[in-house]
Amino acid sequence: MKIIGGNWKFNKELRNLKKAEKFIEKLEEKLKDIKNTKVSIFCHFWVLRELSKKAKRVKIGAQDIHWEEDGSFTGAQPSAKDLKKAKIKEVLIGHSETRFYFGVSDEKVALKLKSAFKEKLFPIICIGEDIEEKEKGKTKEVLKKQIEKGIFPALKKDSKFLIAYEPIYAISGFAKLRGKKPKPAKIEDIKLAHNFIKEIFLKKGFKVKVLYGGSSNPENAKELLSQDFIDGLLIGRASWNFNSFFKIIKIANEISKWKS
Ligand code: PGA
Repeated sequence: MKIIGGNWKFNKELRNLKKAEKFIEKLEEKLKDIKNTKVSIFCHFWVLRELSKKAKRVKIGAQDIHWEEDGSFTGAQPSAKDLKKAKIKEVLIGHSETRFYFGVSDEKVALKLKSAFKEKLFPIICIGEDIEEKEKGKTKEVLKKQIEKGIFPALKKDSKFLIAYEPIYAISGFAKLRGKKPKPAKIEDIKLAHNFIKEIFLKKGFKVKVLYGGSSNPENAKELLSQDFIDGLLIGRASWNFNSFFKIIKIANEISKWKS
């Protein structure tokens, strides 16, 4: 079964509670016909609690957490415990935009993960290299470092989580920032990274699922989701529009049905 996550980021429309609620209501209704795909939405914490009360089939997740529960941390995100109290189970950790804009290091990723696991949240952990690193042939080295420093220190035998491989250069926001046209990574590059990630975790005793993220949209979703090594997609920009997001869900559902 493929997994589809929508990352609403800081989208202005979707921080409007009425509009966000409408989106979720419509999605809940349409998901009645979708039996073979798991769907999550990672919304801004401004609308998080209200949406999680509305959603049934759609999993509502946070985009980040703070690693401490309490203290002098002006401007911090909600804690893992806050999410648990609000019955929110999923959270993105280590997204490259939190690493780039808010200085989240691998060490901080590990602290956030430890607090997430302590509260039995389900983290979707984002890793990925940038274009210079890729061009220097350092993809595996970068992924290995992000995993060994950011993830392994927090793992317990029973930890449940997903990995999202999101090469920074393919994420639409970064492409735009650099004046480039957003486009996904090449299939052979995704294959190499996903297989490498799965292999590292397997050596540690974890069979992980890996989502791909970066400029996926209804036009390229079929090619991406048909690959067996891609367990699902984490979708930014294309999840902000209901029709484009739902088109991708339908594609995922057809492929999952056909492969099961
Ligand atoms: P994008 O973002 O689909 O807009 O490239 C993906 C992500 O950052 O999760």
